[in-house]
Amino acid sequence: MTRTPVNVTVTGAAGQIGYALLFRIASGQLLGADTPVKLNLLEIPQGLKAAEGTAMELDDCAFPLLRGIEITDDANKAFDGANVALLVGARPRTAGMERGDLLSANGGIFGPQGKAINDHAADDIKVLVVGNPANTNALIAQQHAPDVPAERFTAMTRLDHNRAVAQLAKKLGASVDDIKKLTIWGNHSATQYPDIFHAEVAGKNAAEAVNDEKWLAEEFIPTVAKRGAAIIEARGASSAASAANAAIDHVHTWVNGTPEGDWTSMGVVSDGSYGVPEGIISSFPVTTKDGRFEIVQGLEISDFSRTRIDASVQELIDERDAVRSLGLI
Ligand code: NAD
Ligand code: LMR
Repeated sequence: MTRTPVNVTVTGAAGQIGYALLFRIASGQLLGADTPVKLNLLEIPQGLKAAEGTAMELDDCAFPLLRGIEITDDANKAFDGANVALLVGARPRTAGMERGDLLSANGGIFGPQGKAINDHAADDIKVLVVGNPANTNALIAQQHAPDVPAERFTAMTRLDHNRAVAQLAKKLGASVDDIKKLTIWGNHSATQYPDIFHAEVAGKNAAEAVNDEKWLAEEFIPTVAKRGAAIIEARGASSAASAANAAIDHVHTWVNGTPEGDWTSMGVVSDGSYGVPEGIISSFPVTTKDGRFEIVQGLEISDFSRTRIDASVQELIDERDAVRSLGLI
């Protein structure tokens, strides 16, 4: 294998998502079985020792695609030459906290990291923000990286997308493979809107197959939107393996493309599509090809959907205004 390794930077490498993520990246699941990777791990000083322990375990796996591991608490070093950056490091929500509570706690992390990406990353850098509040953290990082095309900063709503696919498949007794064209709109928060009106199950319209608006409004949407809190309640810790899995899916799809006849959900900088104000990072239906994405255009939005999309987008506008008033953008 002679390909040049891809530099993948992971922040929060010693955390629970980091532990579930790094082995999958190193085994080739992020970028493909023919792409060697070099890992750059960023932690705060208190996390360095645990990150070193994880690096020892990575060595012990003897992954053929893993071409090196660097560990640092210096963002400028961590993002030097980065082709892919997974910004996971942040303080997770604990029981009783809403994501808004995290804005000031975590906002301060993403400005400096955005600047370090701007100054040191490779020209083809692709950034996925996982750390919450993911959409607004991605906005903060993007705003500190004026030399990087804005569309390279994305936020993770793939976990929500996967949760919605699983819930819908269960309801219809279908296989998850049969569900296509589902969309998460808006924020990665309890206001998000999982939309099945354009979704298909084995080629048929999913909303028609469900034919139960009460289930949709009172069970499906709240179950998906509040799943993060339900996991925290059940596990006593926020989702980790499923979040890492979604991060792998997000980047893999971004790099390798969506299958014909399907799309995915990604938090991306709005170009004004579907009335979402330009510049905020909102989840949309997107197709990907050759390492680029496009927001799916021309979908008809019912009143039921419009109200819910607008509510989540309003929350994103409020978060943007809050970080603006805190001087974070
Ligand atoms: P964790 O507390 O287990 O790990 C976070 C790690 O980040 C820690 O090791 C900490 O030392 C490190 N860290 C903190 N500040 C840092 C900084 N400035 N630079 C580098 N590293 C830093 O948390 P976790 O469970 O791994 O979750 C990480 C984040 O992901 C949280 O914000 C969580 O809410 C979020 N999350 C998002 C989604 C999503 O779908 N978008 C899903 C699950 C979790
Ligand atoms: C999740 O959706 O599981 C994470 O964002 C954790 C949380 O705080 O909800």
